[in-house]
Amino acid sequence: MGDSITLTDDRTGATVTVPLEADNTIPSSALRALDPGLRVYDPAFVSTASCASQITYVDGQRGVLRYRGYPIEQLAEQSTYLEVAYLLIHGELPTADQLDAWRQDVTIHTYVHENVKHFMQQFHHDAHPMGILVSTVAALSTFYPDAKLIFDAEVRHKQIVRLIAKMPTLAAFAHRFSVGMPFVYPDNDLDYATNFLSMMWRVGSPCYEGDPVLARALDVLFILHADHEQNCSTTAMRSVGSSHADPYSATAAAAAALYGPLHGGANEAVIRMLDHIGTVEAVPAFLEGVKRGEGRLMGFGHRVYKHYDPRARIVKQTADEVFAAVGTNPLLEVALALEEAALSDDYFVERQLYPNVDFYSGLIYQAMGFPLEMFTVLFAIPRTAGWMAHWVELLGDPDQRIARPRQRYVGSSERTYAPAGQRAKGGDGGDTLPPPATARPRRD
Ligand code: SDX
Repeated sequence: MGDSITLTDDRTGATVTVPLEADNTIPSSALRALDPGLRVYDPAFVSTASCASQITYVDGQRGVLRYRGYPIEQLAEQSTYLEVAYLLIHGELPTADQLDAWRQDVTIHTYVHENVKHFMQQFHHDAHPMGILVSTVAALSTFYPDAKLIFDAEVRHKQIVRLIAKMPTLAAFAHRFSVGMPFVYPDNDLDYATNFLSMMWRVGSPCYEGDPVLARALDVLFILHADHEQNCSTTAMRSVGSSHADPYSATAAAAAALYGPLHGGANEAVIRMLDHIGTVEAVPAFLEGVKRGEGRLMGFGHRVYKHYDPRARIVKQTADEVFAAVGTNPLLEVALALEEAALSDDYFVERQLYPNVDFYSGLIYQAMGFPLEMFTVLFAIPRTAGWMAHWVELLGDPDQRIARPRQRYVGSSERTYAPAGQRAKGGDGGDTLPPPATARPRRD
């Protein structure tokens, strides 16, 4: 028995034997060799590898996460976000000189055009910061028209530096706008995380005197959120990037995907869930409701991790350091009780639902004083490095073309047009959704 799969088309007796790749994948060309019109129906790409990537390795069964081969635990303990961003994008850790140059390059690109401020100030007073961020990142494409020269390495590098450098500025500006505070400009004497905290919180004083414990905790959280292979927002980045759109438009699409509560919006949804539960005593009743299909346990579950998300463990350690510095979050005991109850409940264990990176991160952000609406923005800032790394990898991959999946057509067969007066009945006039996910029969 070799490392191959043999497919037989019973309609014709034709067979094809396909060597298995080391990572247990087969090329779709094997199917087309059997029948050119053969398609695999795989909604949400549960069993589809959309690319070959060297950036991030995730082993969901063993709870392993590595950026370019380096274990996330080592990077979180010993590296910085900017160094990790260099690693993800360039494939190697930088030398000391390379890191200095990279840090300097990012530092001198943190400002945005003054018209970006005016653009932001046109939003409604209570605009969600993620809505502002998505829109403003897209708007950056109009400030840098040369970004369309995506196959010019120097132009590409400039846009990558601009996006990584300006994300914290846009994020902080969005927050300051939403709370009616004057914008605070970047301070080039501060490191990446401290500079962001300065733009977020500085009021009146000429320079920001932040707590280094909080700045380091935020930098570690940035490292943990920097990349995660083919997640929903990275898939959006790759899909839009495959049409050769400029990187600002593709990044805006990725940030829009991240905004969803099933993805990057989960950290905000976790806090709202914990607030709703309110007390440790209310945990059992809440879990019974989830098991009846009355909503989801936010911050739990993952398409790939079928055991503990290794990032969740590090976030929990970081939480201890933050709570020691600023005082604990009263919702922590509800979260701990919820985790303990869920991990000992067959419903969640059978479905391999464990805490993911979002379960504890919101508790830290809240303890650090960030408003709920900023939580997904705090995910988008660091994930920009991952999006950039995948965008560059996509453009250099000879296997890649414009993303254009096929479909199963299950709609009406041919019909003849009839004038309005001769139609027996129209549609229901609404956009009725199919039954909610929890009511749909589970697809394996
Ligand atoms: C991130 O992809 C990435 O890598 C993402 C991310 C990254 O770094 O980019 O890791 C970041 O987005 C983490 C995930 C954050 N989202 C949440 O915490 C929201 C709550 N979690 C889920 O909605 C869900 O677990 C997903 C979206 C994360 C994964 O969904 P899947 O893989 O499509 O699983 P599914 O919806 O098919 O669920 C399988 C079963 C279903 O039950 P049955 O139909 O068999 O009865 O598990 C149930 C689901 O109802 N289920 C949950 C649940 N998650 C899945 N039930 C209750 N609570 C949950 N959280």
